[in-house]
Amino acid sequence: MGKFAEIVPEHVRALPAYVPGKPIQQAEAEYGVKMTKLGSNENPFGPSPLAVKAVEAAARGVNFYPDTEMTALRERLALHHKVAANQIIVTAGSTTLLDLLARTLLGPGLNAVSSERSFIIYPLVTRAAGAEYRQVPMRNDGFDLDAISDAIDGDTRLVYIANPNNPTGTMIPAAEMDRFLNRLPENVVVALDEAYYDYAQWMARERGVDYSHAEQYVREERSVVVLRTFSKAHGLAALRVGYGMGPAELIGYLARIKPAFLVSGPAEAGALAAMDDHTHYEKSMRNNTQQLEWMKRELIEMGYTPVESWANFLYIETGEDSSTLSRRLEMNGMIVRPLSGSWGARTAIRVTIGAPAENRKFIDALKNATKGAAVR
Ligand SMILES: Cc1ncc(COP(=O)(O)O)c(C=O)c1O
Repeated sequence: MGKFAEIVPEHVRALPAYVPGKPIQQAEAEYGVKMTKLGSNENPFGPSPLAVKAVEAAARGVNFYPDTEMTALRERLALHHKVAANQIIVTAGSTTLLDLLARTLLGPGLNAVSSERSFIIYPLVTRAAGAEYRQVPMRNDGFDLDAISDAIDGDTRLVYIANPNNPTGTMIPAAEMDRFLNRLPENVVVALDEAYYDYAQWMARERGVDYSHAEQYVREERSVVVLRTFSKAHGLAALRVGYGMGPAELIGYLARIKPAFLVSGPAEAGALAAMDDHTHYEKSMRNNTQQLEWMKRELIEMGYTPVESWANFLYIETGEDSSTLSRRLEMNGMIVRPLSGSWGARTAIRVTIGAPAENRKFIDALKNATKGAAVR
């Protein structure tokens, strides 16, 4: 045991390291081929151009500390969502907010509940807080809210629900979420993770589906913290800006534990500008809806049965070891996400919806990488 193992608590020593999607440079160095990355659900059209301008301008003032309260962005978001500014907290991506929630509500002897095959940060932040992580089986590749309710007890403080879910892409309609919240015990807070809200809402509007009542829950001060991010639809993943909306009292506690100056000035400026960049936003939404349909058709023609997605990625059961397949795809210049390990789906991969040429390259790479292999 190393020198520090004596003083580092067991629950921290037991934590598995977070394995991110493979960076392009690393894969290009490994295989010596030009890579296309469809492994981290990023925006294929890059950052909002208005955000880039705002970041460049804000960069000239980085000698000053940022506004740790993020007042400008919180007030703008409050207007946009028709909630109060003290019901909003801005963090360095929504990943950080998940950590704040766990450190605020959890500890030894307490537990959090979620689903198998959901976002791998949930068990990480829960265990880092010294609490127990309980996961229940899925139903039709989606969250089983009845099983979640059954797993809740007097020591439960937090339930994580990704809607749409990463990595399966499935969505829980608003009416079902309403019913779940109506039978939630007083001692439990729901982290309603809507990182892919923009994609789901765009498709729901097109299909006349009632997807989310999140803002209403916030206005009614329900025991729900809604998580959103600028990393996906707005293309600002590296700027690290996410936010939460919830009961003002709870948001106040989260703000107390939040490190000072967590989000940078350029990041705030970029997020504010991205909220006005309707051209970039709509282009990203239209491409995603169209290319999702195209990709599904191509995969079904190849014999796969991709799970119906309400986000910007597809979950594909491949019938073979996903790490091996993803290495063969990398040899063909394509980075996807193998879902073995902490994701809990050894034979599945997740592919992000890219620009049309990137998606065609993926399908060609998949055909090449599975040539002669029995289709599932
Ligand atoms: C379900 C879900 N929640 C939260 C996040 C975190 O996003 P960020 O920290 O970039 O805001 C992700 C990122 O992939 C995600 O898939």
